[in-house]
Amino acid sequence: MSQPNTFYITTPIYYVNDVPHIGHAYTTVAADVLARYWRLRGRDVFFLTGLDEHGQKVQQAAAKAGIAPQIHCDKLAPQFQDLWKRLNISNDTFIRTTDAQHKQIVQRYLQELFDKQLIYKADYSGWYCTFDERFWTEKDVADGLCPDCKRPVEKLSEHNYFFTMGQYQDRLIDHIKQHDQFIRPESRRNEVLGFLQTQKLGDLSISRPKSRLSWGIELPFDNGYVTYVWFDALVNYLSALEYLPQEKPTGNRFWPASVHLVGKDILTTHAVYWSTMLMALNLPLPDTIFAHGWWTVDGEKMSKSRGNVVDPNRMVETYGVDAFRYFLLREVPFGQDGDFSQSAMATSINSDLANGIGNLLSRTLTMIERFAGGTIPADGLPALPEWESKIAQTSRQLPSVIEQGFTALTFRDNLQAIRELIGLCDGYIDKAAPWKLAKNPDDQGRLNTVLNTTARALRLLSVLLYPYMPQTTAQLTQQLGLALDFSKPLSEETYQWDAPIAGARICKGPGLFPRIEAQSGACNIKGTPETKLIKGAKPVSETPIPPQPAASAPTSAPLASSPTPQAPAPAQITIDEFMKIQLKTATVLSAERVPKSEKLLKLQVSLGTEQRQIVAGIGKKYEPETLVGKTIVIVANLKPAKLMGIESQGMVLAAGDSEVRGLATILEEVEPGTKVK
Ligand code: MSP
Repeated sequence: MSQPNTFYITTPIYYVNDVPHIGHAYTTVAADVLARYWRLRGRDVFFLTGLDEHGQKVQQAAAKAGIAPQIHCDKLAPQFQDLWKRLNISNDTFIRTTDAQHKQIVQRYLQELFDKQLIYKADYSGWYCTFDERFWTEKDVADGLCPDCKRPVEKLSEHNYFFTMGQYQDRLIDHIKQHDQFIRPESRRNEVLGFLQTQKLGDLSISRPKSRLSWGIELPFDNGYVTYVWFDALVNYLSALEYLPQEKPTGNRFWPASVHLVGKDILTTHAVYWSTMLMALNLPLPDTIFAHGWWTVDGEKMSKSRGNVVDPNRMVETYGVDAFRYFLLREVPFGQDGDFSQSAMATSINSDLANGIGNLLSRTLTMIERFAGGTIPADGLPALPEWESKIAQTSRQLPSVIEQGFTALTFRDNLQAIRELIGLCDGYIDKAAPWKLAKNPDDQGRLNTVLNTTARALRLLSVLLYPYMPQTTAQLTQQLGLALDFSKPLSEETYQWDAPIAGARICKGPGLFPRIEAQSGACNIKGTPETKLIKGAKPVSETPIPPQPAASAPTSAPLASSPTPQAPAPAQITIDEFMKIQLKTATVLSAERVPKSEKLLKLQVSLGTEQRQIVAGIGKKYEPETLVGKTIVIVANLKPAKLMGIESQGMVLAAGDSEVRGLATILEEVEPGTKVK
């Protein structure tokens, strides 16, 4: 087990055969979120990432570019380092396997195993896959193709050096069985166990003759060979601790690692090769090796030949760093495969960020400015009424829910729990209607409680969201007028609901997240960007703060496009014809998604004297829970119709064409069922 109160987190070291893509960004952002969280909680964190610079792939890439491998590596390394800066990655150090010290350490370990006779020389004949740089047995390649990458294999016979990996098979099985957190998620643990329990583990060829591959670390006991790239690369997790950290000498206090984050394709090399290497070196095994899933792009495998490789730099430019970080961990449960599309990205930004936390902050600050002169007021009531109690209770539990999530690496569940609190606060503001309370001096205490409660929730939300979105949460706390220093561990009190907040002077700034306008249907990342940020736009749902016209916000974002000049003018109608349409206000009582539909939401709405069910195609734009309590406008005399088998008794009015951009609402607070004309 790792030492108490330390947290050593690693990413794979990436091959420098090409520029970084979304897969690299994914693991590195996930590792960063964990590192940031545990630092805030006071753990001694060491976060390592870096580059795997040896081996066939890199040698080939350099040959293709017509330059020496080291020059090729030196050219590509800054692309990774710059990207990590752009993505706000807080790695403590950065390893390159061509570092002289790393090479020496690899040679030291090789010599140690050789001296212990755990490395021996033997003849070997087998099927070799150049791409994967590994041998396969006859039965593996029945069809002449590599079982892994499906490329043709070639018959090779050569002398090589072997590590006695096979002798650790039973010990490894026992270790996996006794440590249920060692390989995760559980399905991957079962896969590895299944393989180890049914197949004989062979020894591992850890050398390559220089005649075939020269770009690697020379074996200390035979200068005719270089080290197999995986033996070299895996040692990085140990060697970095020896020579890299200059600011804080690590000694061996960080070993064993707390978490090695890897993609599912490199689980075996970590769970089997690395574990048995550590056993042979008499070193403890890491606490956890977590294998995450792979991203496809618009439903297809990502590849250079398809031209659909997602460049993280481009994502940061288009959507902003925190929106991209958020999306990566929000979209798919960690451990499962996921699909990337720009439309999914736009939906997540609009519904969770612009209409979620961004909107809540904006509403709250507007109310504090308007009703409390810009200072967060103290609670105004002796005891908290029902809604406030619910928010307080949820908020009190949330920090431990989040901590459990970061222990279990359920990044997405954490975000879901955070979103629930945001939704709760939004519904609370709608219900409590501070703009009404402000009209009656007797309600001052209640009004202060509403403002205080939402500001408190935002303070806590900023603390909990910080690891995911460090830049945005800094802005959030600044706008709330709070001096929170995220560069140091936070006090226990900061995670408490009762942490003092009253008296802070707010400083309302620009909206946290501009909404994304998806343009005409298909989103693909190859051509010009198809999504557009509406800079400075107010989120559509920042509505109900209406009574003071001077400061009221527009209810829908300014729309960028103007009508197409060639469009035929719509036919004119008479006032009588218009009067046939009965428009009414309605309050949304509940909302849920229609199963199997991305677009449809089933709403129960109140028209004052009656309740209606309406099926509306607004599900791409709105999360159901954000609608509850909202006053909308409906066509009340539309003939009932069935949509996906569900009766709809009216129609919701919304701006937009084929794509919904915003719901029609009423500026002033009016009773549900009020006629609109
Ligand atoms: N150099 C080795 C790792 C050595 S670690 C001691 C390597 N490098 S890699 O650059 O090819 O891949 C690095 C990581 O990127 C792997 O974890 C891999 O799973 C991940 N991904 C590559 N493509 C991916 C996706 N499409 N989606 C998610 N992750 C993907 O392997």
